[in-house]
Amino acid sequence: MVRVRNAVVALGVIAVFAAFAGGCKKDQPAGANDTGDIVIGEYASLTGTTATFGNSTHRGVQMAIDDANAAGGVNGRKLRLVVEDDQSKPDIARTVVTKLITQDKAVAILGEVASTRSMAAAPVCQQYKVPMISPASTNPAVTDAGDYILRVCFTDDFQAAVVGYFAYEQGYRKAAIFKDIKNDYSVAFAANFAKEFTKRGGTIVGEQVFQEGDTDFKAQLTSLSAAKPDAVLIPGYYSEVGTIARQAREVGLKVPLLGGDGWDSPKLVPGAGGPGGALEGCFFSNHYFSKDLKEEATQQFLAAFKKKYDTDPDALAALGYDAGKLLVDALKRAGSTDSAKLRDAIAATKDFPGVTGKITLDEKRNARKAALILQVKGDRFGVFKSYRPEEIGQ
Ligand code: PHE
Repeated sequence: MVRVRNAVVALGVIAVFAAFAGGCKKDQPAGANDTGDIVIGEYASLTGTTATFGNSTHRGVQMAIDDANAAGGVNGRKLRLVVEDDQSKPDIARTVVTKLITQDKAVAILGEVASTRSMAAAPVCQQYKVPMISPASTNPAVTDAGDYILRVCFTDDFQAAVVGYFAYEQGYRKAAIFKDIKNDYSVAFAANFAKEFTKRGGTIVGEQVFQEGDTDFKAQLTSLSAAKPDAVLIPGYYSEVGTIARQAREVGLKVPLLGGDGWDSPKLVPGAGGPGGALEGCFFSNHYFSKDLKEEATQQFLAAFKKKYDTDPDALAALGYDAGKLLVDALKRAGSTDSAKLRDAIAATKDFPGVTGKITLDEKRNARKAALILQVKGDRFGVFKSYRPEEIGQ
């Protein structure tokens, strides 16, 4: 009996201690690690087929976190970025995001760029109720995984429509499409392009598919060439687009090639045979970031990025920076790392001054921003046009 009583007392003491410890933990809510740092997880394609996407984005994210720490951290605590390489593979994306949440206790996840990988990992974030902010995934369905999934970029309902609208404005009336059938971004981009282009009065005269990793595209390109298009849309990633462009020219398909943000890489032009090669003069849509833009925010970011990394940023770096900055801002507004409060603060973002444009998240947790049409000129991408959603009736 005495023993039992002691045990009960002991339990009581433990309970009181636990309650006290819990009280102390108010300043260090779920997600805090032992040192009191706020852990932020990032998953990115640091290696693999689309390694320039991950490395570029990561530099932008790291810069945002370093900036915040240099300014004293958030609510008196330092931020610690833990980055995991998903090797450009969806299944590994899922695994590393699980690790970031369950082992590193990340309070938020930044990533991914490729829609297919964001869609693979988003359900994990949703399940654990850890907010995930994608810097650059544009497939409309990415945020459908749930209310903890948000993004700082526009979607392909808009981006691909811009390319469809632009193609018609250029005078093209017959377009062909060559898409990556296993890539969620590519498939949705093709559909949204076709919708806008045909709505304006254009015709899709041919459609063929490829898969990431393919190296011989000549059979499909020959068939597309026979349909005599005025332009060919290739909504793929730089990893295949260069080779496709070279082989298109080899089979006699000489018309302008069109693409989207997936072309944005320092490796695009080298893959197409270098400056003046198979992609010279071709067009692709991209997020609102370019060295050519005179905006003060652009020029400031450019200078700071160059100073830190001794190289120019691409749009991915700018989007990574915006995603990181917006998260820091939301952590401050939430005044807490509590996941529901943090999610609500991110979702409530309004007129956030991003480098890639003003960011206001809508009810589907997407951003509405302007897009650029860039033209390949030598080894540079020149700003050819820009479109705001209203300008194309969105
Ligand atoms: N928007 C692409 C996707 O959803 C990813 C991407 C963004 C690639 C920006 C390059 C630049 O898959």
